[in-house]
Amino acid sequence: MQANFPAAGWPDLSPPPAFVSLLAEVFPGVQCQVSLLPLAKDGSSPILPADFLRPDELSLWQSFASDKRKREWLGGRLCAYDCARRLTAWPEMPFQARDWWLAADENGRPFWQGNVPRALRGTDISLSHGGGYALAIIAANRVGADVEVCQAKVERVAARFCHAEEEDTLARLLPEKDRLARLTLLWSAKESLRKAAPGLPGFLAMRLADGNRADHGWRLTFAWEKRASVAATLYDGHAFAFCLLEK
Ligand SMILES: CC(C)(COP(=O)(O)OP(=O)(O)OC[C@H]1O[C@@H](n2cnc3c(N)ncnc32)[C@H](O)[C@@H]1OP(=O)(O)O)[C@@H](O)C(=O)NCCC(=O)NCCS
Repeated sequence: MQANFPAAGWPDLSPPPAFVSLLAEVFPGVQCQVSLLPLAKDGSSPILPADFLRPDELSLWQSFASDKRKREWLGGRLCAYDCARRLTAWPEMPFQARDWWLAADENGRPFWQGNVPRALRGTDISLSHGGGYALAIIAANRVGADVEVCQAKVERVAARFCHAEEEDTLARLLPEKDRLARLTLLWSAKESLRKAAPGLPGFLAMRLADGNRADHGWRLTFAWEKRASVAATLYDGHAFAFCLLEK
């Protein structure tokens, strides 16, 4: 996919080059666009919500009671629309006046709706927010993205998402990382696969079968109905994962 960006007045949400290299290595030839936003602790946004959300989106955002939900929802939308703007080189009219938008199906899965620009038609989108980041990915394939902050809780709930033999595989693939980092990476990878897959499969319905180190992270291969690959990495105290399913 072509990147026609930046546009004046819009923040640069380009992902670290390491993410781009990792995706290119794990999914060679697959076209995708990623945007990453560090979430400000004070809840501020690098662009005013009213300057990129449609009036109905702005009302929904204002209706959220929790500051955390407001911050994360807004960050996810900003990343999603950043990906979209890069692909469409969104032109003349104010962005908030567009006649297309990010909707969600009955399970919460995001998709484009309305008079969707040609460059976005047939693409899939996934977004995630957690810890200090929000991110989005658009791809021609069915896609899932996830970010998880590395925190001790993950070790306490490991049995809910990790089979015992997966810990052995993780130890083989990431010998230099501690258990917290390994488990957070696995959790994030499974979340990305769950989001990409139809019907949000359970964590224990998928098994880490194999993997290998990539230049800036890992390729993790999961056995789930069929095999699925995930590009996963550790960055700034967080695990990031992207799953692109074969067409
Ligand atoms: C949906 C779920 C995968 C999100 O994962 P998470 O790690 O908690 O949160 P993340 O920040 O990574 O991702 C949130 C985003 O995932 C997306 N999402 C929500 N449901 C989704 C689904 N079914 N498939 C793919 N993506 C989904 C949304 O875009 C959401 O962001 P938004 O609410 O700001 O639009 C997880 O919360 C889950 O499994 N929930 C169960 C939900 C459920 O059972 N729903 C039944 C129907 S109501």
